[in-house]
Amino acid sequence: MTKTVAIVTGASQGIGRATAMRLAQDFSALVLVARNRTKLEETASAVREGGSEALVIDRDLAEPTAAATVVEQTLSAFGRIDALLNIAGAVPGLDVFQMTDEQWDVGLELKLHGARRLTVQAWDALRMSKGTVVFTSGNAAMTPKAAAAAVGAINACIEALAKAFAERGIVDDVQVNCVSPGAIMTDRRTAMLERAAAAKEINIAEAKQSFLKQAGIARFGTAEEIADLMAFAVSPAAHWMTGTVLRMDGGEIRSV
Ligand SMILES: NC(=O)c1ccc[n+]([C@@H]2O[C@H](COP(=O)([O-])OP(=O)(O)OC[C@H]3O[C@@H](n4cnc5c(N)ncnc54)[C@H](OP(=O)(O)O)[C@@H]3O)[C@@H](O)[C@H]2O)c1
Repeated sequence: MTKTVAIVTGASQGIGRATAMRLAQDFSALVLVARNRTKLEETASAVREGGSEALVIDRDLAEPTAAATVVEQTLSAFGRIDALLNIAGAVPGLDVFQMTDEQWDVGLELKLHGARRLTVQAWDALRMSKGTVVFTSGNAAMTPKAAAAAVGAINACIEALAKAFAERGIVDDVQVNCVSPGAIMTDRRTAMLERAAAAKEINIAEAKQSFLKQAGIARFGTAEEIADLMAFAVSPAAHWMTGTVLRMDGGEIRSV
């Protein structure tokens, strides 16, 4: 039986970790990328328990040379790449009038350029396997806010970038889509709520309720729910779907 290989970035925690664990059901080998080796090894153990091989690559994807290393190590270990899931992201949620050029660069270097470079580096292998790519944006692409301007702007860039790769993918037989999560309860979301609670001088439970009311949703999503959507996006059932943004947000975005 032919091995199937998926690279998952941001696999040390949150949505990336949940996605890697979910994909262990569908792929024979998972390549787990992020900076924290200890946490990546924990994901790797869970992936192996789920029935898949796991390779840990602890690299900072904001470094320009990291993408080539990830692809080289993947091909050296497994010889092919069937799916690339660009999930890593850590865009600073700062006010547009306070954010420095350096802080913009931090967000852009990882979430936009890290994903772009990895996709470019993996493209030849993806062409050979007729593979699939998923980018991760977020609701803020549709509802940018002054208080966290880079989050919206960079997520909108990601959706445009995914479309651009998807156009080339029609010729090259590589499927490219974007998953846009709403408010998902991960460490990143907890940190955002803690900052909001401190700013409003309320407790974390009140900050959660305040967020849900403002967003008009019944609850936060889970990383596992987004992982299931990621798994669908790279499954044979979704093969003809390309250049699409798949949103899962509990109904937060009200526009068509
Ligand atoms: N949670 C939400 O509500 C939500 C909503 C919309 C979109 N999203 C998007 O979904 C993605 C995952 O979010 P999450 O909530 O799961 O976040 P998270 O819990 O903070 O996880 C972020 C992941 O990115 C990795 N990462 C950060 N900087 C990195 C770097 N320089 N190089 C390599 N990896 C790096 C982290 O690992 P290390 O620290 O080990 O490097 C971690 O695995 C992000 O792109 C985020 O923008 C999340």
